[in-house]
Amino acid sequence: MSRAYSDIAFTPAVRALQTRMGSRSAYAAFDHAEDRRHTLTEHEAEFIRERDGFYQATVSETGWPYVQFRGGPAGFLKVLDASTLAYGDFRGNRQYISVGNLGGNDRVSLMLMDYASRQRLKILGRVRLVSEAEDPALMAQLRLPGYRAQVERAFVIDVEAFDWNCPQHITPRFTEAEIEQAVQPLRAELEQLHLELARLRAASAHQP
Ligand SMILES: Cc1cc2nc3c(=O)[nH]c(=O)nc-3n(C[C@H](O)[C@H](O)[C@H](O)COP(=O)(O)O)c2cc1C
Repeated sequence: MSRAYSDIAFTPAVRALQTRMGSRSAYAAFDHAEDRRHTLTEHEAEFIRERDGFYQATVSETGWPYVQFRGGPAGFLKVLDASTLAYGDFRGNRQYISVGNLGGNDRVSLMLMDYASRQRLKILGRVRLVSEAEDPALMAQLRLPGYRAQVERAFVIDVEAFDWNCPQHITPRFTEAEIEQAVQPLRAELEQLHLELARLRAASAHQP
C-alpha cells in the first residue's frame, strides 16, 4: 500500500468505517508518508508486460461501476513510462460502454491477475482517448501485427496509484501455454518409456 493509493481509496466514509472497525491505526502511517510511491517500478512494469488481459472498471454518468475484461497477446498493455500505460482499444460489439463512460469521467480502475502465481496488481488512473489522427506514431506502437483485431483508438492511462494484493483466495489457474510448458517434460519422459517398452517387447519376442 502506498500513500498515493490510500489517498484515493480511503475516502472519508472508508476511513470512518476503518475507525469503527478498529483498523484505522494500522493504515494511519500511509497518510503521512513523504514518498507517495505513485510511479511504477521495474517490478510492476515487468508484471504488466507479461499480462494477456486485465479487468477494467469505468464509472457511468449515472454512477454505476462498469467492469469489462480486456484481452490480447501478452504485452498488449504497454508501459510507456513510469506513470503512463497504453493499449489499443479493439473494435468489438460496438456498444462503446467504456468509451462512453470515459467521456464524462476519465477515472479507471484496473485489476491485473496472474492466476498461476496468485498475484494481483490494482491500478487507479485517468484515461485519455487518443485517435489515429491525433497520434499516428502511438497508434502504430499499439497495433499488433498478426493478431486479429482492429485498433479503433488508444487508451492512454495516466497512473495515479497502484497496489499489490495478497494471494489469499486466488485459485491458481493456468493458461494453455503454461500447461504446455509444465507437461512438456512429462511428454518427453512418456515418449522414452514407450520406446523402452517397445524395445523390451521386441527383445522378449525374440527369446525362445
Ligand atoms: C461480435 C462481437 C460480439 C461481442 N459480444 C460481447 C458480449 O456479448 N459481451 C461482452 O462483454 N463483450 C462482447 N464482445 C467483446 C466486446 O465488444 C469488447 O470487449 C469491447 O472492448 C467491449 O467494450 P465495452 O464493454 O466498453 O462496450 C464482443 C465482440 C465482438 C466482436
